[in-house]
Amino acid sequence: MNMERQQPQIQDEHAVRVSRLFSGIVNWYDFLNRLLSLGLDQGWRKCLADLVFPAASEAGGKKVLDLAAGTLDVALALRHRYPGVKVLAMDFCPPMLVRGQNKIVGENTGKVLLSAADARFLPLPDGSVDGITMAFGIRNIAPRSAAFAEMLRVLVPGGRACILEFGTGRNRIWLGVYNFYLRYILPLIGRLSGDPEAYKYLARTIMEFPDADSLSAEMHAAGFARVYHIPLCSGIVCIHLAEKA
Ligand SMILES: C[S@@+](CC[C@H](N)C(=O)[O-])C[C@H]1O[C@@H](n2cnc3c(N)ncnc32)[C@H](O)[C@@H]1O
Repeated sequence: MNMERQQPQIQDEHAVRVSRLFSGIVNWYDFLNRLLSLGLDQGWRKCLADLVFPAASEAGGKKVLDLAAGTLDVALALRHRYPGVKVLAMDFCPPMLVRGQNKIVGENTGKVLLSAADARFLPLPDGSVDGITMAFGIRNIAPRSAAFAEMLRVLVPGGRACILEFGTGRNRIWLGVYNFYLRYILPLIGRLSGDPEAYKYLARTIMEFPDADSLSAEMHAAGFARVYHIPLCSGIVCIHLAEKA
């Protein structure tokens, strides 16, 4: 993968900051994901992958675009669920993709194509992918509407966009235990990464994220049809599903 030739155009301060933030925590990212989610995060990604196509038998030869692909855990979950698919994994932070590249071995070799790209400016033709996934990416993107418009543009009609994201931290989940965790425990453990500010930022983006109904309304307003969401773990995370008509 020639990351230099594929450097995405990062055009605003927020995006530059987010990309730098993930470059700074890349070595700790997977370890802290497992630790901070108490080992639940891979199961959530598996649920996300399960929802892209109605049946594994329908997925042979299809292309799935994984946006904000990070260290490629969703790409691998997709390949595991649908052995016939090719995955196009895009992220605007090349060090995250490079870190994940070591995981692409065996029968996944050659089936996951990596590309440095901003979800708001996809280097893909209209109607060129059969499904889209994005895990824990959308809350970092501003404006979200730009990413939704690009998802709709590159999806084939009938294709599904599946977005996994934390629920808003404004709901009291498990009598407020989750909110306490977000405010105090997550930034504390995040100090392990050597960049406590990064994990404070992550906690803040979760707390400020819109609730599931509001996000569904945004996706509907962006032009998606059949928008709905499925909460997991009492709404700690939520999978948002939407189709292109
Ligand atoms: C929390 S990580 C999620 C990574 C991976 N999907 C996972 O499940 O672990 C968020 C990722 O989104 C990427 N990202 C944020 N904004 C983006 C954008 N506008 N375009 C592409 N990638 C973006 C970051 O670089 C980072 O790798």
